[in-house]
Amino acid sequence: MPKPLNIGMIGYGFMGRAHSNAYTKVNHFFDLEYRPVLKAVCARDEAKAKEFAATWGYESVETDWRKLLERKDVDAVDICTPNNLHKEIAIAAAEAGKTILCEKPLAMNTAEGEEMCRAVEQAGVPNIVWYNYRRVPAVTLAKQLIDEGRLGRIFHFRANFLQDWTISSDLPQGGAALWRLDAAAAGSGVTGDLLAHCIDTALWLNGGIHDVTAMTETFIKERKHNLTGKVEKVGIDDACAFLCHFENGSLGLFESTRYARGHKALYTFEINGENASIRWDLHDLHRLEYYDHRDDGVVRGWRSIHVTDGEHPYMKHWWVPGLAIGYEHSFVHQVADFLAGLAAGKPVSPTFRDALETQKVCDAVLDSAKGRNWQKVGG
Ligand SMILES: NC(=O)c1ccc[n+]([C@@H]2O[C@H](COP(=O)([O-])OP(=O)(O)OC[C@H]3O[C@@H](n4cnc5c(N)ncnc54)[C@H](O)[C@@H]3O)[C@@H](O)[C@H]2O)c1
Repeated sequence: MPKPLNIGMIGYGFMGRAHSNAYTKVNHFFDLEYRPVLKAVCARDEAKAKEFAATWGYESVETDWRKLLERKDVDAVDICTPNNLHKEIAIAAAEAGKTILCEKPLAMNTAEGEEMCRAVEQAGVPNIVWYNYRRVPAVTLAKQLIDEGRLGRIFHFRANFLQDWTISSDLPQGGAALWRLDAAAAGSGVTGDLLAHCIDTALWLNGGIHDVTAMTETFIKERKHNLTGKVEKVGIDDACAFLCHFENGSLGLFESTRYARGHKALYTFEINGENASIRWDLHDLHRLEYYDHRDDGVVRGWRSIHVTDGEHPYMKHWWVPGLAIGYEHSFVHQVADFLAGLAAGKPVSPTFRDALETQKVCDAVLDSAKGRNWQKVGG
């Protein structure tokens, strides 16, 4: 019988739902020593929190996250709030001895992230950050192929994350659902929100980034603020593009925007190596495109691998070969790996310390765009 791991979740929005779904499913598909128990959900609006608790099966509700941290019956705290709350909650949770699962980006900036790393390391609490795309089976397969050396020396890493939902100048900033447009709540715009995913994947697949040069733009300079009712300056980056040198000598090219009309969540990456290339597209997430120059010339070409076979990462836990899984499963995989790590007493990546590296790249990108120069990652 798996041991219970009592979860206290803070925030019940988009990620609150994605994580709750993962906690409820994971033991049905993975054989684990731990079983998440939905002990409490915390949000400021009690009526809405109760409704959420009833829908998802949480045993209780808290309206103040500090109260949640005081509870002896909560083992692990899941931080699903806007970015400006990650640091305060995570440090308090570490001091309370809780296991921590924190949404990305780790923090508003590197300085905050460093404080958070110190707190979890001093407290010795297990911790992880929800860079979930690593655990899309096709992305995990990309990692496997690179680590096996199939691509050979890597020359290029290219990634995009394109959306189009903030083009209207009538869209306000701030408050529920629109905190992403408010620099005080989000820290940055597409850099911390979208490029952080691309950067985490890049660091994982292709190693460290040495330096960057970036440009950002804020297309709509002022928007009504939902919390003050006044028209206020927009402090986030609406779009960001950067070039970088990886430590392994390869070149990186990254772009993200919320102004690419027609694109909703077009996260793609392509890696070109000496022997082979791979590319992946979130809109078709169960496929990995692979080109191997060593193939026999007459049949050489891009193959589209349907990553649904039992020998593909994670897939033996699901249905039968040929049947695809989706976005939500990346969260189930993260929970499964995290619980396996807890049982083995081993950290599971990306830990706070791993996610700090992404934060450092984000900061270098924003500094470079401001100064119109090259910035070394980590200062
Ligand atoms: N891993 C991913 O792919 C992914 C996707 C989306 C969002 N995120 C991250 O998840 C976090 C939350 O984003 P979201 O899209 O779920 O936002 P959301 O707006 O849907 O939900 C945020 C939740 O936080 C709650 N909240 C705000 N202040 C609070 C407080 N003081 N106490 C308790 N609850 C509070 C809100 O009530 C809401 O339930 C962000 O850090 C975001 O960057 C990650």
